[in-house]
Amino acid sequence: MIKRLRIQSGLQGSIHTPPDKSIAHRSAMFAALAEGISTIENYAQAADPQTTLKVLEQLGVQVERDGTTVRIHGKGRDALKQPIKALDCENSGTTMRLMAGILSGAGIACTMIGDTSLSKRPMRRVMDPLSTMGAQIEGRDGTYPPLVLHSNKGLHAIDFRLPIASAQLKSCILLAGLYCEEEVLVHEGIRSRNHTEVLLELPDDILDDGTRVIRSSRRHPVPTQNYAVPGDFSSAAFWLVAGSIMKEGELRILNVGLNPTRDAALQVLKRMGADVRVERQSQAGAEVVADLLVRPSSLKATSLSEEEVAIAIDEIPILSVAMAFAEGESVIRGAAELRVKECDRLDAMAVILRDMGIEVEEYPDGMRIVGRPDHRASDVAIDSRHDHRIAMSGAIAALRCDGEVSIDGAEHAAVSYPDFWKDLESLQI
Ligand code: S3P
Repeated sequence: MIKRLRIQSGLQGSIHTPPDKSIAHRSAMFAALAEGISTIENYAQAADPQTTLKVLEQLGVQVERDGTTVRIHGKGRDALKQPIKALDCENSGTTMRLMAGILSGAGIACTMIGDTSLSKRPMRRVMDPLSTMGAQIEGRDGTYPPLVLHSNKGLHAIDFRLPIASAQLKSCILLAGLYCEEEVLVHEGIRSRNHTEVLLELPDDILDDGTRVIRSSRRHPVPTQNYAVPGDFSSAAFWLVAGSIMKEGELRILNVGLNPTRDAALQVLKRMGADVRVERQSQAGAEVVADLLVRPSSLKATSLSEEEVAIAIDEIPILSVAMAFAEGESVIRGAAELRVKECDRLDAMAVILRDMGIEVEEYPDGMRIVGRPDHRASDVAIDSRHDHRIAMSGAIAALRCDGEVSIDGAEHAAVSYPDFWKDLESLQI
């Protein structure tokens, strides 16, 4: 679908962003492994978390939907059933990688498939450690989906050092660990999002060199819970940048999850001079939530540290938009992972920004952006490359365009933010 936008001078108003996608996936999976009924309030209607519910249903888990409330009837970690058909993870890397850990642990024979984008994403990172644990798992060309899981004789524990800062990989191994008699140890150097550990209350230790060691095993209980999913910081980040680069108006983003392993983009934007205020901060279960008020500001260039890259990984496309309209040169390095997301996000953003008249130098693991604070582009055509975050980042960059902007593949925003276009429309002054 090609979306045509004619951008007004600013945005004004309050919005709720969609529920956090990472927490939604996990709350559903963990509820399925518990024994009893868990209630999840504010469950995401976005395509990816809905994919996880469908996959769980194929494994015999009863899921009741009542608007945005979901009730999951868990029967324990050993009660998952052999699926009749292939499990379709559609566009969702989190569904495929986390469920690969659970299904390997449960010894379920099945095939996991995905859409064209997911079928090109690397799975070797989960296949190798799972195989070391005793899983029988094959991928196309040894690395890509479809993944074929054969039944196994039970997994044994490993002591695993994460080779990349990836919450999906970390979670996959910890979830497989829930099926091991001995403790699985996962060593994390650079931190990634911690929702799995927090929701499951997994024990951890910090070693003298700063490495964090997280543990899981069959002895670890997975209790039923009532979850309330906070607003998705990754979706809020689009409005934080929009509110900063536009010339007038103010935006209030309500009930946003501010987990410290997720909110690096907020710290980066503040460092760039963004006028963002955190209001009504409170604790919602295990997560901190707050409202965020953002007003136009004059941004300054910045560079991201390795730690920030890991915990702002999904926000780098939209941060690159902020950098494009900041004073000075910004540099992003250590972000090669962006090349194997739903598309090559470094290349996609470099092309969009260059088409808008911004100088961008691409590196294998990042980019250098020469900001133009007062620049306005005109008549831009944006290719989303079927990637939700590229479609939305392109749309926010278009706030700085005159004339008509077209976004090819705008519908892909629904993977994480089904109401994005409606919200953008309703906020225009
Ligand atoms: C996610 C982890 C990140 C992130 C993705 C969601 C998660 O992926 O990009 O959107 O929920 O665990 P990686 O683990 O591949 O970095």
